Amino acid sequence: MSEQTNSSDRKDAHIALALEPLAMAAIDAGFDNVRLDHCAIPECRLEDIDLGIELLDHNISAPLFIGAMTGGTARATSINRALAELAETHGIGLAVGSQRASLEAGSSQADLRALAPSIPLIGNLGGIQLAQAGGLDLARRAVDDLRADAIAIHLNPLQEAVQPEGERDWRHVLAAIEQAVVALPCRVIIKEVGAGIGVAVARRLFDVGVWAVDVAGLGGTNWTRIEAARREDPSLFVPFLDWGTPTVTCLHEISTVMPEKTLLASGGVRNGLDAAKAIWLGATAVSLARPVLKALVGLENGPPDRVAASRTLADLKAQMALALFLTGAPDIPHFREVGGRIAEGG
Ligand SMILES: Cc1cc2nc3c(=O)[nH]c(=O)nc-3n(C[C@H](O)[C@H](O)[C@H](O)COP(=O)(O)O)c2cc1C
Repeated sequence: MSEQTNSSDRKDAHIALALEPLAMAAIDAGFDNVRLDHCAIPECRLEDIDLGIELLDHNISAPLFIGAMTGGTARATSINRALAELAETHGIGLAVGSQRASLEAGSSQADLRALAPSIPLIGNLGGIQLAQAGGLDLARRAVDDLRADAIAIHLNPLQEAVQPEGERDWRHVLAAIEQAVVALPCRVIIKEVGAGIGVAVARRLFDVGVWAVDVAGLGGTNWTRIEAARREDPSLFVPFLDWGTPTVTCLHEISTVMPEKTLLASGGVRNGLDAAKAIWLGATAVSLARPVLKALVGLENGPPDRVAASRTLADLKAQMALALFLTGAPDIPHFREVGGRIAEGG
C-alpha cells in the first residue's frame, strides 16, 4: 500500500484491516486473571437481574456502549447508522469514531442522534487535532453536530508514530484538553486506542478536569499492528508491536489509587463476562469496538447484518447478567461489592 493516502481511504482501510487476524494484540487484556467468587446460593432469579445504570443522564439497560469506530466515508456512514439503530434498540450507549473527516468534508452525522434519541451518544476527536489551530472549534462542531452527551478525545501517540502519514508533534495536547474541559458544553472523556492509560497520565487528566478516562488498554484491537501492515517496510516498529499496558492492569491500578474517579473500560473486552469483570474492577461502563464491527459486517467486511450484531449485543448482556447471578448480586451496585481476586501475573 502507498505510504501516503487520504483520510477517507485510510478510514476504509482501517475498517478492513481491523477485521484481519493481524489486528489483534499478541498480549491479552488480562481478564482471564480476574476470578470472581462463585456464589452457590444466589437467592435471586436470573431473569430479575438488573444491569441498568444511569450514564450521561440517560438510563441504559446495561453498563455498555459500542466503542468508537468510524466515520467520514460512505462505508462508515452505513456502519454508523446500523450501530446507532442497534444501540437504541438495546438501550446501550454509542460512541462514534473521529468526526474530523466528516466535519472537514462539510458533512453531518446528525442523523445518528435522530436514530438514537434516547441513549448516551459520545462524539470523538483526536487529541492531536484538538491541540492544532482551530481544534477547539472543531470539537465544538463535533458536539453540536451529534448533539453529543460527551466527547471522547483520543490519545494515540503510538498509532500516529507508526502511521506513515501520522502526526509526530504532541506538544500542548494537555493544555488543549484543559481548555476543552472549560469551553465545551458537554463532558470530556479521554481515551487511548489500545495502548492504555496508566495512573500517572490519568492523574494529569483528572487534574485538568476531565470527566472520565477510558483506559482503552492493550489486549484487543492493536493499532500498531494495523498501521505497520499499511507500511511497505514495518521493521522499525516490530519491537513496539505489543507496546502498552493491558486493560486489566490499567483499570486495577487507577481504580486502586483513584477510586472516586469515573473510569470507562475498553480494549480486549470479548464477552459479557469480561465486561462484568471490568465493572467489578471499577469501570462505570464498558465498550467493545472490533467485536461489534465483526458481528455487524463479518470477517469479510460485507453489508451490515443487524440481526447478527443484535444477537451479539443480546449475548453480551445475557453473559453480564449471568456473571451477576453467579456472584449473588441482583444489580450493578451489589455486584461492585462481591468478592474476587486478580491472579498472579494479572
Ligand atoms: C475500525 C475501528 C476504528 C476505530 N476508530 C477509532 C476512532 O476514530 N477514534 C477512537 O477514539 N478510537 C477508534 N478505535 C479504537 C476503539 O475505540 C477502541 O479503543 C479499540 O479498538 C480497543 O477496543 P476493542 O479491542 O474492543 O476493539 C477504532 C477501532 C476500530 C476497530
